[in-house]
Amino acid sequence: MAKQEKKQNKGLVIVIAAIAATGGLLFGFDTGVISGAIPFLQDYFVLTDSQIENLTALGLIGAVFGALISGPVTDHIGRKKVILASAFVFATGALWTGFAPTVPQLMISRFYLGLAIGASSFAVPLYISEISPTKIRGTLVSMFQLLITVGILAAYLSDHAFADNNDLECWRPMLWVGVVPAVILFVGMFFLPETPRWLMSKGREEESRKILNRIENEEFVEDSISAMKSDINIDKSQANWKEIFKPWLRNALIIAAGIMFFQQFVGINTVIYYSPKIFLAAGFQGAEAAIAASVIVGVVNVVFTIVSLFIIDKLGRRKLYFIGVSGIAVALVCMGLGFMLPGVGKWFLVISMLVYIAFFAISLGPLGWLIITEVFPTKVRGIGASIGSLSNWGFNTLVVWTFYKMASAIGNAKEVVVPEGQDLSDTCPSCIGSVFWIFAAVAIIGLVWGYYYIPETKGVPLEKIEAHWRAGKKPKDL
Ligand code: BGC
Repeated sequence: MAKQEKKQNKGLVIVIAAIAATGGLLFGFDTGVISGAIPFLQDYFVLTDSQIENLTALGLIGAVFGALISGPVTDHIGRKKVILASAFVFATGALWTGFAPTVPQLMISRFYLGLAIGASSFAVPLYISEISPTKIRGTLVSMFQLLITVGILAAYLSDHAFADNNDLECWRPMLWVGVVPAVILFVGMFFLPETPRWLMSKGREEESRKILNRIENEEFVEDSISAMKSDINIDKSQANWKEIFKPWLRNALIIAAGIMFFQQFVGINTVIYYSPKIFLAAGFQGAEAAIAASVIVGVVNVVFTIVSLFIIDKLGRRKLYFIGVSGIAVALVCMGLGFMLPGVGKWFLVISMLVYIAFFAISLGPLGWLIITEVFPTKVRGIGASIGSLSNWGFNTLVVWTFYKMASAIGNAKEVVVPEGQDLSDTCPSCIGSVFWIFAAVAIIGLVWGYYYIPETKGVPLEKIEAHWRAGKKPKDL
């Protein structure tokens, strides 16, 4: 009977996490869908290259703002309401961008959608983390990353399904597809409870206990309740920005911003973005290369994120981090070599890139979003996780924005002249290769940083993590 009950609880928690993780699907879909829509938007609105850049940047800037504004709000009004609000913005934003009649409206609606991406990208993993049983918290939060990767793939499929060279407005349905997961998130979330941790932080002990009894392993329920109570007694101050910069939380802040720095500065989005070129170099033809890149990269990303679900709570965060980042560094060195030495073979380049994606998918992908929700105390967990999230979007923008600039600076130093109609990678593949080596160097620095700063939070109740910081202990000693 008891066993039966436990099984049901686990099932319930998985359903809760799966509904909330639909937010990840929207994150992946809405960031991915624009690339396939751009060629059609460009023809329809006669956009210049700089307008295209602005359109992409506005989505990212919206995400930074979304995370910034909604951080304190999740601590005040709760995790659930912020997710509901972002589902609403996702749904209306997808409709609006799809209906956009003019360029300014297209730009503003993209910014508006960005707000939801930024807010949900920390509120969803935060929600899952706080409602998960301690022992499977890593696996459940990784479902968020899994749905990001599924969303990226779904965006590609939507782009591909609706692309029609005879219909200039085919970009509209590509964007409208995003309404479906947004409605699922809104309706599903409506029926889900608030997290026991947030309820407790607002003094709603009975509601908190009721939910905790339904989800947590028996052995942890009373411990968690009394730990949450004593945290509230120790610290009655209000959740605000000043609080988060207090010295005892410095390590938590360094961890949240640091892991997002390394997640982005190993170049994940430039590798994904560069993949069609790599497939082209391997001998695939134009459109075929782009399709192969999106499908193969997308599938490897999804499959290895599924692998991470099974190992993240067994191997633990630190081991996974070191295995993943070491693999990323080696794969980046190989990719650089592939560009530097044309004789090495195109397939070497393709395989290195897929190995890179696989190592990212089992480590920095899920770990980034998981760790930012684990390291802060309940009262400022919303603000803290939102700082992690806005660092992610800020670093993402910076890397994508500087990638070509770095490669061209290397090209300039070598006095490379790019002929009309070609780009730098045709004329100077080694310039691109050098940038991948810079990313490899960042990954190696990440290994050293991780030794000092990645905490082992596997199987540790969130309240114990808070007590660890209060005791002034080091991250690596957790
Ligand atoms: C990162 C994104 C990236 C995606 C790829 C996420 O964890 O934050 O920037 O595009 O993983 O799967």
